[in-house]
Amino acid sequence: MSRQSRKEVLDVLVAGLARQEYRGYDSAGLVVDGDKSGEVYYFKEVGKVAGLRKKIDGSSVDVEKTLMEQVSIAHTRWATHGPPSERNCHPVRSDANSEFIIVHNGIVTNGGDLRFVLEKRGYRFETETDTEAVAILTKYIFDQYQEKPTFTELVKAVLKELEGSFAFVFKSFHYPNEVVTARRGSPLLIGVKTDKKLKVDFVDVEFAGQDSTETRVEPPPSSLLAVPSATPKVLRTQSRAFMSEDGLPQPIEFFVASDAAAIIEHTKRVLYLEDDDIAHIAQGELHIHRLRRKEQGSLSPQQLAATRTIETLEIELAAIMKGKFDTFMQKEIYEQPESVVNTMRGRVNFDEYRITLGGLRTYLPIMRRGRRIVFIACGTSYHSCIATRAIFEELTEIPVGVELASDFLDRKTPIFRDDICIFVSQSGETADTILALRYCNERGALSVGVVNTVGSTISRETQCGVHINAGPEVGVASTKAYTSQYVALLMIALQLSEDRISFTERRRQIIDGLHALPGQIKNILGLDAGFQQLASTVGDNKSLLLMGRGYQYATCLEGALKIKEISYMHSEGILAGELKHGPLALVDENMPVIIIMTQDSLYPKVQSAFAQITARKAQPVVLCNEGDEAIPAGAKTIRVPKTVDCLQGLLNIIPLQLLSYHLAVRNGYDVDFPRNLAKSVTTE
Ligand code: G6P
Repeated sequence: MSRQSRKEVLDVLVAGLARQEYRGYDSAGLVVDGDKSGEVYYFKEVGKVAGLRKKIDGSSVDVEKTLMEQVSIAHTRWATHGPPSERNCHPVRSDANSEFIIVHNGIVTNGGDLRFVLEKRGYRFETETDTEAVAILTKYIFDQYQEKPTFTELVKAVLKELEGSFAFVFKSFHYPNEVVTARRGSPLLIGVKTDKKLKVDFVDVEFAGQDSTETRVEPPPSSLLAVPSATPKVLRTQSRAFMSEDGLPQPIEFFVASDAAAIIEHTKRVLYLEDDDIAHIAQGELHIHRLRRKEQGSLSPQQLAATRTIETLEIELAAIMKGKFDTFMQKEIYEQPESVVNTMRGRVNFDEYRITLGGLRTYLPIMRRGRRIVFIACGTSYHSCIATRAIFEELTEIPVGVELASDFLDRKTPIFRDDICIFVSQSGETADTILALRYCNERGALSVGVVNTVGSTISRETQCGVHINAGPEVGVASTKAYTSQYVALLMIALQLSEDRISFTERRRQIIDGLHALPGQIKNILGLDAGFQQLASTVGDNKSLLLMGRGYQYATCLEGALKIKEISYMHSEGILAGELKHGPLALVDENMPVIIIMTQDSLYPKVQSAFAQITARKAQPVVLCNEGDEAIPAGAKTIRVPKTVDCLQGLLNIIPLQLLSYHLAVRNGYDVDFPRNLAKSVTTE
């Protein structure tokens, strides 16, 4: 927000959208200030950001015009309410004059009720979104004030009426050059850009008083009759404006985004907002306020903290660019020899066979005393939990449960103070996993995060944890995060078992295996042409079954998920031990099957599954170890190096990632942006 041309502003917005497009990409839109006061220009387009860019380039808007101070907002959408269309695209306005304009991530679950009441009062809606109800509600509440409220007061009054999850940015012609942004459940951060060193590295939080003394509009529908009047009483210090070290106010640009990727080319200094934080930005100052709600449960220490720290991100721009690769997914698959090293860097001492996970250090005794361990995750992260469950149980001798976050919550699973709950998430922002985390925190369990995104909600709200350090993952289908989660979970199990003499040999074997891992992954990547060939062999089928057992069950589930996600081919991961209980009925000479027969203690049992399916005329492709001569001659094989049983899944998944990739490319599908999916699912 400083003097710049409209073109510069548009470029920042469009580039920022493109960088966080992987979070949602069915439509994109933005609004910039117009030539006259109060005037704005909207650009909206269905589909990807490139389409929006084209539309802007083809427009007659004077892009060279210098804007002294301005507020512009932009959004890429992943439709929840109302199908993707230009009409439903954000930014969404309150009325034809655009008195209030907002962008929104999340779902306002009482959006329908609000809409009903507002329509009854004569307001006309032009979109099918829940967001529009919030825009119109803002105008409605604004109109009720006798004295113009501050922008923050107004937004507070609006937020109190909302249920569900959100991250909002508000802009208004009643408050030129001001922005209010707030979150509950959806991620939000503010980038701070300045040439000078900041005198303070934090922003004070302004806590408002009791609800009774605050601006309060009763819940809908009656709320819409109430007239807000009282001004909030401020109990804490004034929030601090930024000053440079020499004490002089200075020009500062602020960038509000849901993802650091959108802003790191401008600044690496960011401040993460907590749930129910409301940030007001105007004239180079940032003020953070808290919304107090009667119905809210216990607050996390992060929410209660009196300041929000400005952190420095360590991501490099190159890490979120495709480089020489055609797609992010391909790049991320090929990064795995390095990303697994990054997960282990500084933590695994291969000479002394020691693991040091700094983020768990003080919690290890509690973890060892735990009555049970519960892994909670979604999607691919859930599969990494299944993949490591057996080694966890073996090394810790503590029972391990694995839970899909949504089902865990649906069942209101009993959780106790001596439970160790491990939350695994690439983004750290998956709504179901966050809700499960809060549920466990409220019940006094120890919460441990295994997260890729530093600064994310899960990494902040867990009591301790391990960052997997895989680097930013952009491709919607998760690849390198899976292998790094797998390694991180293994490292936790190894660290927990370091006091057990009886496991010394087993631990050494695994740590040696970890040492060889990057080179072995590299070797498998070198066989990519063969996997491409395999994709043309199986690619015309409607379905593909993946079978295995023991450690390889997770590989089957994850391989099948990759295939479904990006090639849209039906694929199922089948536990070979369950074959006779149903899946065998699917098998005949036309059903393509991949069977995982790498050499571990269950090898004879998988051999018998192989015999059962070949007896039904299946011609399975066998994923097996190099040099395994017991595989029947003539069987089509995918050969991978042999490693320790509990690490074999880290190698076996690589051919399946590449197979799914080639299946998608072969059909001309958009590998990084599969239909209907998003990288980070921030709604329930
Ligand atoms: C989405 C993504 C998956 C991911 C899952 C869990 O479905 O498309 O790739 O595995 O969310 O996400 P998380 O960030 O919690 O690991």
